[in-house]
Amino acid sequence: MKIKSELSKIIETALTTANINADEIVISDATKPEFGDYQYNGVMKLAKILKQNPRQIAMNVVEHIDITGMVAKVEVAGPGFINIWLNDNWLATQTTAILEDSRVGVGKVEKPQRVVVDYSGPNMAKQMHVGHLRSSIIGDTLATLLEFLGDEVIRQNHIGDWGTQFGMLIAHLEELGTDGNTQELKDLEVFYKNAKVRFDESEEFANKARDYVVKIQSGDAHCLKLWQSFIDASLGHCEEVYEQLNVNLKKEDVRAESFYNDQLPQVIETLKEKGISTNSNGAECVFLGDDETPIIVQKSDGGFLYATTDLAALNFRDKELKADRICYVVDARQAQHFKQVFTIAKQAGMVKEEVALEHIGFGTMMDKGGKPFKTRDGGTVKLVDLLNEAVVRAKETIKEREAHSDEALDALAKSIGIGAVKYADLSISRESNYIFNLEKMISFEGNTSLYMQYAYARIQSILRKHNAEVSGEIIVGDAIEHRLALMLLKFEDTLSKSAKEATPHTITSYLYDLVTVFMKFYELNPILRDDVDEATKMSRLQLATLTGNVIKKGLEILGIDVVDKI
Ligand code: ARG
Repeated sequence: MKIKSELSKIIETALTTANINADEIVISDATKPEFGDYQYNGVMKLAKILKQNPRQIAMNVVEHIDITGMVAKVEVAGPGFINIWLNDNWLATQTTAILEDSRVGVGKVEKPQRVVVDYSGPNMAKQMHVGHLRSSIIGDTLATLLEFLGDEVIRQNHIGDWGTQFGMLIAHLEELGTDGNTQELKDLEVFYKNAKVRFDESEEFANKARDYVVKIQSGDAHCLKLWQSFIDASLGHCEEVYEQLNVNLKKEDVRAESFYNDQLPQVIETLKEKGISTNSNGAECVFLGDDETPIIVQKSDGGFLYATTDLAALNFRDKELKADRICYVVDARQAQHFKQVFTIAKQAGMVKEEVALEHIGFGTMMDKGGKPFKTRDGGTVKLVDLLNEAVVRAKETIKEREAHSDEALDALAKSIGIGAVKYADLSISRESNYIFNLEKMISFEGNTSLYMQYAYARIQSILRKHNAEVSGEIIVGDAIEHRLALMLLKFEDTLSKSAKEATPHTITSYLYDLVTVFMKFYELNPILRDDVDEATKMSRLQLATLTGNVIKKGLEILGIDVVDKI
């Protein structure tokens, strides 16, 4: 249910009948229960334009608001705010209507867009690090969310598979045996280390490595084969992480940097032709403005750069993929890079003016000491180890609670441990840095996935205990039921906002509020007690069921499992 747009229509009608013109009507959530459910704060602006007293205008508008259906009461507050209360019967009807709905009342967007979501993007010559973990988690949520809302999503995993380091790596691979199945590739960290050792200790090896760089670039078949087997092994490691994380990125979503290689000369041609780039000391550069550092698109030795590839990718995403919106889920520290390539791409006509280009930046994951997250020996943390640790901890947290078979306990620990890591990442506003703290993440209290999973399991246990069919209508009988029903109906507005702003934390905050209201409802309003009459019992069971359905759908969009028992 799109509550806010329904309310704007009601306000719009009231304004029209009161003979007042307003362009955009914005409805906000009330900040306190005594201010109602929603507020319209646009009168102050209107008063300035009309040169009239805001309170007077507000009174006039309020008189024209239709309070026969959705709205129960309106009141003028403060200098001219309009507070709005929704009607209990309306809430009851609306929630009852979505009891059987697999989309829990969430419609699809009117104008579906084709959206490219660029996420994960690990570098094949390095171990996947926590930055890629964040990108994978946030990007995957965004992709799932947009798809659920009806957009057509094209996932793109822009992996770094090209560059001088590969010469060294494939020279080492060749030394070990050319089949690409060598034991050493099982542990890439060791592989990189040893390749570097060889590079530093042997002049002959180093020369070969340099030689290989040129050879791969010129398309030498033998070198390309070695390179390919190395990429396959490296990508295999990433796929393990995706699998464990429940991240929906497949082989076919990979469109690597190397894919754009043969389009790079054309990028430079276009930039030169349009007079956007200039030669500076042999290098081809774009100067965007006095306070911007120049962007090198081709080095004096002819080599291309990260920005050149991104320009080619932008062109491809516009011309071939025909995207309406392109989202880059990449570390916030690359903000300038994206700002620059977006500007250049539009100037050069590589991307149409109307295509939305968005850098969905995120902050850094820190350790407990507030330093960027690394393993104890200073190396980048192995993601698989990190995730395994979360699962082990989750198991410890829950094993004493209920009797589970070993198998069930393992599955549960995985859902809870991985869910905790993902939820913690998604629940902070994405631009902020945050501290990785497993103890806090795997907790029954606070805004954690376990709190949501526990609420869901608790609802399932109530339904198991009831052990009979649940039927009948929802009745909104008191203030807490009013709040709960309203929260349930706010799901669609929440998802729309989250999709528009690309903010997963909008969803987690909502879930936290929903579960908090549900817990209060459950505390105040007994469900299965003998003295509760049948209709009330059914209504409360229905409210609980619907709450469970919304939690489940919300967590599903975040890529987190629900569990029936904890
Ligand atoms: N490989 C890059 C990195 O690790 C991320 C790629 C992001 N996507 C892009 N189109 N630039 O920083």
